[in-house]
Amino acid sequence: MCGIVGYVGRQPAAPILIEGLTRLEYRGYDSAGIAVLGSSGATVVRRVGRVRELEAALPKRLAGTVGIGHTRWATHGPATEANAHPHSSEDGRISVVHNGIIDNAGALRARLGAEGVTFSSDTDTEVLAHLVARSGAGALEDRVIDALEQVVGTYAVAVLDAEQPDRVVVARNGSPLIIGVGDREMFVASDVSALVRHTSSVVHLDDGELAVVTAKDYRTFTRDSHDTGRVPTEIEVSADDVEIGAHGHFMAKEIAEQPETVARMLRGRLDTRFGTARLDGLNLSPRELRAFRRVKILGCGSAYYVGELGALMIEELVRIPAHAEAASEFRYRNPIIEPDTLYVAVSQSGETADTAFAVREIKRKGGQVVGLVNVVGSTIARECDGGIYLHAGPEIAVASTKALTHMGVGFALLALLLGRVRDLSVADGQRIIAGLERMPADIAAVLADEERIAGLATELSAAESLFFIGRVRGYPVAREGAQKFKEISYRHAEAYQTSELKHGPLALIEESRPTVAVIPDDELTDRNLAAAEQVLARGGRVVAISHPGVDLGPLDDRRVDVPRNEVELDPILLMIPMQLLAYHAAVALGLDIDKPRNLAKSVTVE
Ligand code: AGP
Repeated sequence: MCGIVGYVGRQPAAPILIEGLTRLEYRGYDSAGIAVLGSSGATVVRRVGRVRELEAALPKRLAGTVGIGHTRWATHGPATEANAHPHSSEDGRISVVHNGIIDNAGALRARLGAEGVTFSSDTDTEVLAHLVARSGAGALEDRVIDALEQVVGTYAVAVLDAEQPDRVVVARNGSPLIIGVGDREMFVASDVSALVRHTSSVVHLDDGELAVVTAKDYRTFTRDSHDTGRVPTEIEVSADDVEIGAHGHFMAKEIAEQPETVARMLRGRLDTRFGTARLDGLNLSPRELRAFRRVKILGCGSAYYVGELGALMIEELVRIPAHAEAASEFRYRNPIIEPDTLYVAVSQSGETADTAFAVREIKRKGGQVVGLVNVVGSTIARECDGGIYLHAGPEIAVASTKALTHMGVGFALLALLLGRVRDLSVADGQRIIAGLERMPADIAAVLADEERIAGLATELSAAESLFFIGRVRGYPVAREGAQKFKEISYRHAEAYQTSELKHGPLALIEESRPTVAVIPDDELTDRNLAAAEQVLARGGRVVAISHPGVDLGPLDDRRVDVPRNEVELDPILLMIPMQLLAYHAAVALGLDIDKPRNLAKSVTVE
């Protein structure tokens, strides 16, 4: 959703801010703006629309070396230039950019209005600019503390003061904020992808922390002015990871790189001799792992669907009950937290508000929660008791692909470890390890069939509405397939358990409403085939996602084959053609694939 960048250094700030905002475009936004400090105060430029429109609107001479920028996703007030950030105090001295929501903005606006302040926007953020400006304190950092003391809500903020032009003051509470440490220059961002071209040395702020950032230095401290002395850590992300390269879209790039990223994720994590996984980051001893009697998985959207797939894997390999639930529901229903349950929060961004709240609720009630998270140092990763980093690299396209595959692999590793401290035999553990080792080549084999899958996708793209069906292991695959398809093609795609089709939805089957059926080679193949044939018999069209050697009979002309791996791991591979079907359907429809309408990459609001 919204994005923040900031710069203090020796170079002109504007091009660096614009470049940083471009890197944050993938998060979703409707307007953008920057403020740059110069000899005559702050120059603020804002525009509705894309960052390139903002860039075109900048004055030719904008030489200041200190500035902040923002991409806005409207929450308080529509997407207008007046509502775009940065927001300024009435005299223009203070400029503020803000991610998050100020819950008591209404009351603060009323109070400031009564004191004679004139507002120029509908936003909650503008309140902050006026509060900082009206603070009696001297140094900008003290003024910001003063203002934040009056605010209830979540925020990442970056603040400029035209009368203290050597610094940016930043603060975090519930929304990520990172400082990038350079050579006599410093960067600020809400997301590492905005910094990676400049530095790999970063400082993650914690909730309740602030920092004053100058060209030479930074200082971190709490709201009661205690220094926290945060030191930088090195990030693994490189500039190439956030470049589109030769690919037409980030989504295509992210699908294509899966063989390589999955191989990287597995490196050092497989213990063939003992048929188990090495997951030191979980911070759990074998005795502690063995004591869990249940697993509960929490995630949102696609992460939740892969969680369902993970729960099945855990039940099959560990033989303890495992269940996935949407974190967005869990957090609102006063959940029962049990001491012998292992809670697993799964998230690509590590910033999804609903999942982060679920983690806090579990911890508040004394539960043990580990994370399966992609973004290193993200909120969920840091708030969990331990975890497994997914190491998929930055995922820029809003529609998640490689991170979901990595989540599937992460669940396989967790299931392997939990299984081996219980009753999974060494031989079975080694069988799963061999399957995981084959996975990069298996993914590459599916990708090699892209042209044919693209042909089927083009055919499917003509339909206004589709079914995706699967059962047991195939059902989460169908759910994720439908999700991916609807996200970027804007077609109505509904997932159903194959077994449930006859209990209602068969009434909707007709030629114009095709079905994508997951029909793996497993104990349910015959039943799945029978159900798909019922669809054909009612005039429906079926694309089958299957395994080589399965006799699909009348479905044979529209089949996609995925290499057969181990039966417990097959669902991970069955998701790959779903990615390609969705991608190529959206290509055929000429849509904005990486930034689908109404969606954001990380949903940091409730
Ligand atoms: C995936 O394609 C979606 N954009 C969305 O459902 C996503 O998986 C969900 O919002 C959770 O995001 P997270 O993994 O960053 O927590």
